[in-house]
Amino acid sequence: MPPAVMNLLYLFILLAVYSPAHGTWDSCRGTCGLRPMATDYGADYDSADSRIVTGTGALPGAWPWIVSIQDPRKIGTGHTCGGSLISPQWVLTAAHCFLQARNVTKWRVLIGATQLSHLGPEAQVRHVKRLLAHQEYTAASQRNDIALLELDRPVQCSDYVQPACVPNASLTVSELKACYIAGWGSAGAKAHGPSDVLQEAKVHLLDVRLVNSSRWYAGSIHTHNLCAGYPRGGMDTCQGDSGGPLVCKDNSASYFWLVGVTSWGKGCARAKRLGVYTSTQHFYNWIVLQMGLCPAATATPAPEPPCTATPSEQPEPTPTEPGCSTPTPCTEETETATPAPEPTFSSTPSEQPEPTPTESGCSTPTETPEPEAEPEPASTPLPSEQPGPTESVLPAPRPYQVLVRFLARVHQMLQDLMGKRTQATG
Ligand code: ARG
Repeated sequence: MPPAVMNLLYLFILLAVYSPAHGTWDSCRGTCGLRPMATDYGADYDSADSRIVTGTGALPGAWPWIVSIQDPRKIGTGHTCGGSLISPQWVLTAAHCFLQARNVTKWRVLIGATQLSHLGPEAQVRHVKRLLAHQEYTAASQRNDIALLELDRPVQCSDYVQPACVPNASLTVSELKACYIAGWGSAGAKAHGPSDVLQEAKVHLLDVRLVNSSRWYAGSIHTHNLCAGYPRGGMDTCQGDSGGPLVCKDNSASYFWLVGVTSWGKGCARAKRLGVYTSTQHFYNWIVLQMGLCPAATATPAPEPPCTATPSEQPEPTPTEPGCSTPTPCTEETETATPAPEPTFSSTPSEQPEPTPTESGCSTPTETPEPEAEPEPASTPLPSEQPGPTESVLPAPRPYQVLVRFLARVHQMLQDLMGKRTQATG
């Protein structure tokens, strides 16, 4: 057989063998924020002007990271809150969704769905393995309204299931022009129950200083919040949309950033009463730490109780569980021991990230610095090792880079194989 044909044959064999074993990782390819289906819907799709509150449905796959978090004790579909997939096994959502939660491991997470009552073949269902609500979440003021759910099994990425990108401090969120909200929440403050079909709306980000002014929210908005909607009202998230995504993209970019988690609002869609969102950028370090991506966290046993604030029936975490280790900032020592990050895992898709060893994505959850107070924008010093199927890091929207790296790896493996074969036969 000619060597070229042999090479091709090996390539097919390798692809066939490699795919199922690393199915989950391969299917998500380390990318984020992409909407494979939306490109099919045409350029006009992004200018859709529908309302969550008055209810125009999203098209299937329009927001492939959105999930419906469902409490089986509730009647109907059990929809309680939204959430966003940020890696194959982690969902970012709001802490207040779990205030009444009893046995959260019985809750369902529905991924890849558009209509809750009629799940297409694209839909995937998972259960909650762990709930990590922010340890400083305060119900009275809705401070730190953020939580992570670890799924019992990773999802399979597809045209309908994709993770969103979480921005670190280097992104200027206020400059992103195209922002959207989505969810199965109710169609108005007086409407009852969730919407069956996923709703979406285009919104504007408003300056927190304006929203905090006396005739607006009069100081109730925290520095870790974003406010989105319209000064005159009309389009907004509502009850049942909590935990779901506020995403934005640069006009020229093809990927979306998950910039906010739906938190609260006074009524729904009212003038000067905008939707309030938890800024994911502000909690970037917390997220990375909880997901166990901080090397210092794995190195430090937890001398304190687990970091969950609300769950009543949390499965016992192991002492060395990174997600529940004490909020220990990374030390210089740990960081220098960490290999240089690869751009694939950057959360800065627009530029090649410079490794900055002093900013390793680790900080105390309670002392997360204000994004504007960051001395220098961090360039995502995330682990350089490719994650296994159950351990993904915050991915980056670099599909081509990943493909090139993958092909380079296949090439290398082929060469190794060919070398071995020649040795064996020769
Ligand atoms: N807290 C609500 C929920 O649990 C979300 C409310 C959003 N309200 C608003 N006006 N934007 O679903």
